[in-house]
Amino acid sequence: MTTYTVGYLVGSLSHRSINRTLALALTRLAPPDLLLTEIPIGELPLYNHDLDPNYPATAQQFKDAIKASDALLYVTPEYNRSIPGALKNAIDWATRPYGTNALNGKPSAIIGTSPGPISTAVAQQHLKTILAFTNSPVLGQPEAYIQYTSELFDENGDIKTPSTAEFLRTYLHAFTTHIRRHHDTPDR
Ligand code: FNR
Repeated sequence: MTTYTVGYLVGSLSHRSINRTLALALTRLAPPDLLLTEIPIGELPLYNHDLDPNYPATAQQFKDAIKASDALLYVTPEYNRSIPGALKNAIDWATRPYGTNALNGKPSAIIGTSPGPISTAVAQQHLKTILAFTNSPVLGQPEAYIQYTSELFDENGDIKTPSTAEFLRTYLHAFTTHIRRHHDTPDR
């Protein structure tokens, strides 16, 4: 059995983030061949291409963690019908300096939770547009728009509703297949 390392990026910087709680729940629902670990984005400075010649150490560590991962999982809230600035900033760092795009060919998936009835659907659509430009093959189906309610997580941060937990297992299984397909026939 090949084990794949998945770096997950949480779009929220909040210590009370419902998206980080979701990401941690996913680490426990993942099949044994997916190893999920967070790649933090909160310490990155604001991207400025003046810094490219003296690329900051925090950004280099971030980029190295991406390169070392077989795949990336974006777990993000929706801010004003798009992705949070912190996540866009991290993506900008990952793709620069020009010609060193760490996202190129990286199998990816997107998921997110918010209390709104359409959850994070619009943010996810924006993120798909960005990741198309970075040449990241993104899992198409199933889409995962998880509506947050106070009933979503139990006191341990696990998914409370069995049908939702089962959906998330199916989602992670599809992601594993997506990763395997791209590692067997890399397009980069
Ligand atoms: C939000 N929220 C939100 N929710 C949504 O479904 N669509 C949206 O466009 C927005 N816009 C938005 C903007 C800003 C600046 C904030 C702070 C919040 C609500 C958001 O879903 C809620 O705060 C979540 O708890 C955010 O996720 P984390 O940070 O808890 O993971």
